[in-house]
Amino acid sequence: MQYPSIRDLKTGGKRIFLRADLNVPIEDGKILDDTRIRSVLRTIRYLIEQGSPVVLASHLGRPKGKIVPAYSMKPVAEKLKEILTETRILFARDCIGKRVEAMAAGLKPGEILVLENLRFHKEETANDPEFSRKLAILGDIYVNDAFGTSHREHASMVGVPAILGGGYVGFLVEKELRVFGELIRHPRKPYTVILGGVKVSDKVAVIENVLPKLDNLIVGGAMAFTFFKAMGLETGKSIVEEDTVQTAKDIIKAAEARGVNLILPLDIVCAPDRNSGDEAIVRRFDDLPADMAGFDIGPESIELFHRTMMESRTIIWNGPMGLFEISPFDIGTRQLAAFMADATTYGASAVVGGGDSMRAVREAGVAEQLTHVSTGGGASLKLLQGEELPALEHLRIEGVKPFIGANWKMNGSMELGIEYITALDEGNVNYFGADVVLFAPFTLLAAFAPLTEKAGIYLGAQDIFWEEKGAFTGEISAAMLAEAGCTWFLAGHSERRHLIGETDEIVRKKLIAGVTSGLSCVLCVGELLDEREAGKTEEVVRGQIEAALKGLDIVTPYNLVVAYEPVWAIGTGKTATPQEVQSMHALIRKWVAGIFGDDFAGEVGIIYGGSVKPSNAEEVMSGNDVNGALVGGASLKADSFIEIVAECR
Ligand code: 13P
Repeated sequence: MQYPSIRDLKTGGKRIFLRADLNVPIEDGKILDDTRIRSVLRTIRYLIEQGSPVVLASHLGRPKGKIVPAYSMKPVAEKLKEILTETRILFARDCIGKRVEAMAAGLKPGEILVLENLRFHKEETANDPEFSRKLAILGDIYVNDAFGTSHREHASMVGVPAILGGGYVGFLVEKELRVFGELIRHPRKPYTVILGGVKVSDKVAVIENVLPKLDNLIVGGAMAFTFFKAMGLETGKSIVEEDTVQTAKDIIKAAEARGVNLILPLDIVCAPDRNSGDEAIVRRFDDLPADMAGFDIGPESIELFHRTMMESRTIIWNGPMGLFEISPFDIGTRQLAAFMADATTYGASAVVGGGDSMRAVREAGVAEQLTHVSTGGGASLKLLQGEELPALEHLRIEGVKPFIGANWKMNGSMELGIEYITALDEGNVNYFGADVVLFAPFTLLAAFAPLTEKAGIYLGAQDIFWEEKGAFTGEISAAMLAEAGCTWFLAGHSERRHLIGETDEIVRKKLIAGVTSGLSCVLCVGELLDEREAGKTEEVVRGQIEAALKGLDIVTPYNLVVAYEPVWAIGTGKTATPQEVQSMHALIRKWVAGIFGDDFAGEVGIIYGGSVKPSNAEEVMSGNDVNGALVGGASLKADSFIEIVAECR
């Protein structure tokens, strides 16, 4: 799914309606944690620097349609004034109405108007069309940087963009989507998801969606008691979600069937009630006292979870391990926060979502060390369920995300690579909205992985072997590539087809092996010069595509890209004309549609390779069906590669 990015927005000084999620914790008018404010600063600055006035809207807490002074946005406006000292910031005592409209209309370039809490009007959560209309009057262009609210169909989230004819996603939303998109598509293994909190029912859809790729599912918090109940154990006075016991049984079975380790607490901190922390005792999970309730995980569980986390390469954590608000029941959650940081130090990607777990990592002072701390609990769960965020549906743009690959072939070195990736990072190669993938030689992949991850680009392998393991001297399996940090691989490159002698059958076996292991494939096709001269181009290319893809149900437009690389154009300095490229790509799309249908074909990336360089990149990629490029020679220098990426739209 693609959304128009704020990066592409030239505001022309127009007034922006910026919906942010500035729902910060406030006590006695003081902001306890300003993370959510800081996380939208980049978007705010980007807009005001373009000379646009910004109307900034948010909700705060759950005032349920009434004016509740404790939930006023005023302290947020004050905080912004402290941070953006050069900017004139006004505060409106309502979010709709004539007075507010006049204030918005009177804003000068680069000034900000902070609106009062949207949820002081019950029409906000009711998604009332008239309320949306009144909000929409305040801006010309809609920008959504409210990741934490994007799972809600509220007036300011869906009504306003519908009226303003769509809109843009801000930097924060874009980053959250990128991180979760990557975790869902390409988790590095071993992959561990840790779920806590009270309700199993809230997390069932997540479990179902992640289970096929998962290695370990750790369950803590009150959720664990529903599982214990499902196992026929005594749960005492602990919270059990009775109507989900059967679901818990189903999850236990499904995990077993898929070979996923379902890891439950080994011991539990129990007490007569939540206020009797001083009477707390630790009991084994199968020996819980009937007259007590469990409020936290015990020391053996903490040790077990720690071990699992340290063996993982990807960890997602959502939900506390116990009654985190009340000491001493906060220990499990706090320990886990520290372990997330440890795991990151040892090279894992560690991501946290959900209010309590976020608070725990912040209070433990480790938030900065983690790969990502999401600003949205509910929204991140929705993404982990594999669903689109409702608020973004109105912003979606049709079309295919550009893809630019750097195929280094048998070139490059460790030293060059480190310099190169640093240059891509500093050159903000991420900025252009393409998936950028570096196909480096096998020997360099693992060393490059942390650097490419930091630069927000992907790592790909130039080849793969189809067997899982065994006596295949010199070959590399899909699992090994994933372990090295690869998410993509090439199959069927012409140099392997024609110099090494790979057949269509081999290409297909490689594609299946890689995709089944969770990697994504760039399938290369293309005709030789004599085939072209004999008028056989279409027959050859169509044959290669059908031989690789026909009858496969494992590929999706998200794990496949087709690269058309006419062999006579590779490394020769000769390029196909933009018209030739476009018409071949249109045919490829038609052949793919013949196999998988129009919807699939409309979404799959089809890219061109063969002497692409900065001077011809724009032209070569100008056709409607050309979604990017696979670059050989010109990708060896960071500067020229960045120039090519910059031409991707
Ligand atoms: P050149 O860009 O060097 O022609 O190589 C193209 C290619 O084979 C990319 O895979």
